[in-house]
Amino acid sequence: MSRRVLVVDDEKGIREALKQVLEYEEIEVQACASGSEALRIYPEFRPHLVFLDVKMQGIDGLETLRRLRELDPHTQVVMISGHGAIQTTDEATQLGAYDFLEKPLDTDRILLTLRNALQHVDLASENVRLKAEVHAQYEIVGSSKAIKQVIERVEKVAPTGARVLVTGENGTGKELVARAIHALSPRARGPFVEVNCAAIPTELIESELFGHMKGSFTGAFADRAGKFELADGGTLFLDEVGDMSLSAQAKVLRALEEGVISRVGSGKTLAVDVRVVAATNKDLRAEIAAGRFRDDLLYRLNVVPIEVPPLRARRADVPQLVEHFAAQLTRRGGLPPKPIAKEAVQRLAARDWPGNIRELRNAVERLLILASGPAVTADDVDRIAGLGTGEGEGEGGRGTSAADLAGAPWMRAATFEEFKQVAERTYILAKLKENDWNVSETARTLDMPRSNLYKKIERYGLAREA
Ligand SMILES: Nc1ncnc2c1ncn2[C@@H]1O[C@H](COP(=O)(O)OP(=O)(O)OP(=O)(O)O)[C@@H](O)[C@H]1O
Ligand SMILES: [Mg+2]
Repeated sequence: MSRRVLVVDDEKGIREALKQVLEYEEIEVQACASGSEALRIYPEFRPHLVFLDVKMQGIDGLETLRRLRELDPHTQVVMISGHGAIQTTDEATQLGAYDFLEKPLDTDRILLTLRNALQHVDLASENVRLKAEVHAQYEIVGSSKAIKQVIERVEKVAPTGARVLVTGENGTGKELVARAIHALSPRARGPFVEVNCAAIPTELIESELFGHMKGSFTGAFADRAGKFELADGGTLFLDEVGDMSLSAQAKVLRALEEGVISRVGSGKTLAVDVRVVAATNKDLRAEIAAGRFRDDLLYRLNVVPIEVPPLRARRADVPQLVEHFAAQLTRRGGLPPKPIAKEAVQRLAARDWPGNIRELRNAVERLLILASGPAVTADDVDRIAGLGTGEGEGEGGRGTSAADLAGAPWMRAATFEEFKQVAERTYILAKLKENDWNVSETARTLDMPRSNLYKKIERYGLAREA
């Protein structure tokens, strides 16, 4: 499901910066400098999302927006506006702009807007996808005793509306469990809204969760609904809930206790009907002991606990998972099918998988791509499977979906310049790991002269890691 984004801005720096961020996300990007170009490119390129500058020579942003909507009433547009150009936001909102970014572009906001917009795009396209496929996507594969207990509990709790706290290590399938709970609940037709609490800077989390009123803080250009409101009638998935700030925790607690929220900057309360499913890889009792998590919130969230066991505690599931991923990758992922020898599967089952199922999935993908013979052998597993799997958080095993962007270090960059560099460093590091630190190979995938890559490796201090 490749996504396409069109960037329209007459400032070259902005075009390039956005392009870089988007391409890291494996998004297909076209950029242009004027409204007339945008209107020409749009019908052919059919982007899922457009970043559109308000102030441009020739046809300005608002007029471009108007004409884009004539071309395609469903077009999703995020406006990029000059500092303090708030007057235009009302008009743009009326014309159907989805969101706004203010120049100078602020790192946190770009990432947040991008994530939200893409989620929105996903949501919209998910609605038109066949229901059967949606279900298949949330299928929890496995028949070990450990995973069966998880599935049983999911089936038992899903119809009840009770709050669920899903715990488990990285990549064990916590999100899959949360989605399955939603899909099997009477709210299945309602929205499933995800918030990754670890990915949102502390000062923005309240507005993300509860929304805000225009002008309530710098950057709040228009009234905006928060995730609680968006999840009305459905399920709100509070992912990485252990990373939420104490002040946000207090507000969430109130929302859960009273069933009402109020937008930042508004005295009015709104009733919302939301089922909350939370997840964390942290030990919340230890967080409570350390004063970082409220115990009253834990009791509210943890009505029904579901602990997803790590893969090493359910090795019996490995063969089925391998088969499942191989089929998925060859069918939908476009890889050529290749049998995987029994000993190869045994070898995979014997590994420890600190990055759990996500890491196993990536290993299967690497094996299908890199195994040179007609079948994947045990030797291939020894040679290939462990590549790019970092220790610790399994950094190398992580994908590049919007959700995975979550823990990215660039979230901490202070300036846009710095942010671009962090993004580039992260990207190169990921590619190096993917290519088992083979510089020639990496240079080829990056389409970059080798000498250039060596320079960047030096500049970003990646040689040490190599
Ligand atoms: N039992 C399973 N059957 C099939 N696929 C699975 C299973 N468990 C996990 N997956 C797949 O593994 C990947 C990781 O799962 P998921 O994102 O749900 O894990 P997570 O626990 O939320 O990870 P993180 O802690 O990194 O956020 C996803 O692609 C998911 O579809
Ligand atoms: Mg997750």
